[in-house]
Amino acid sequence: MEIKTYLLERQDLVEQELAALMLSASGPFVQHIEAMRYSLFSGGKRLRPILCLAAAEAVATDSETRCKALPVACALECIHTYSLIHDDLPAMDNDALRRGKPTNHTVYGEAAAILAGDGLLTYAFDLLSGSSTANLSDRARMRIIQVIARAAGPQGMVGGQSLDMIYEGKQAGYEVLRTIHQSKTGALITAAIEAGAIAAGANEEQVSCLCSYGQQVGLAFQIVDDLLDLESSTEELGKAVGKDAEVLKLTYPALFGVEGSRKMAREAVDAAQQVLNGFDTKADPLRALARYIVERKK
Ligand code: IPE
Ligand code: IPE
Ligand code: MG
Ligand code: MG
Ligand code: MG
Repeated sequence: MEIKTYLLERQDLVEQELAALMLSASGPFVQHIEAMRYSLFSGGKRLRPILCLAAAEAVATDSETRCKALPVACALECIHTYSLIHDDLPAMDNDALRRGKPTNHTVYGEAAAILAGDGLLTYAFDLLSGSSTANLSDRARMRIIQVIARAAGPQGMVGGQSLDMIYEGKQAGYEVLRTIHQSKTGALITAAIEAGAIAAGANEEQVSCLCSYGQQVGLAFQIVDDLLDLESSTEELGKAVGKDAEVLKLTYPALFGVEGSRKMAREAVDAAQQVLNGFDTKADPLRALARYIVERKK
């Protein structure tokens, strides 16, 4: 199957499940839920949920097992969307456009946007521990919850975002840069893959290989995000471009130039492909997704 078709099909699956699992905008908290829904349903590539589903697909033999990853995939998208709402806040990257629409705080105000992010983050853990994942074993559920909590938390995405802000406008070396990218972006992407594999009953060796795959594609994903900020357009990306250089973000192109960065992204994706050598054709979607991650235009 062509990667484009695969992405569209899986996006559709994720949209439907998100629509079914997300709170509806009614009752006493209607404004808060509306703000959460605004960002959650404003497009987005749904890449983390798709990677989660593809990891499940790589190890599961039947579709019933694969489907167990679907609510987990939706919880990951809630966490990712929260990270975008907070990333765009005036105190952070101060952006006015996201997913082709005005950012959450631009529409609802800063207080409501902070709370919409908080709401999405905590609702993700409600989903992970509630009835939608009841068909997973308690052990698998607990493990998935911990994998995702760690990846989203102080030693993962939030820690990385904190370093990203601290190093804005400062000089630093490769070690710091790699840590920022691996944590602010790589950690949640790796967790999506690990959690999908656990949901589908992967063995320890498979989990470990898929984590290595996740670390490589997660790093490549943020390197390409840095490149797109330099080389793409607002129309194509649905978010501002040229911002990283303007505010002196610590990025791969800033340290290694465009060609150097592209080469490093390609090397990371090649390494990701190597790790999948022991997997059969069920891992073909993961192979195609790795290629897509370096070749993507948005
Ligand atoms: C943007 O993520 C933020 C980063 C971690 C680079 P995506 O490029 O996956 O954004 P959406 O979800 O498609 O909007
Ligand atoms: C954000 O990185 C990573 C997150 C955890 C949200 P960026 O700040 O580069 O993401 P964009 O370019 O705004 O999407
Ligand atoms: Mg940022
Ligand atoms: Mg940003
Ligand atoms: Mg960026």
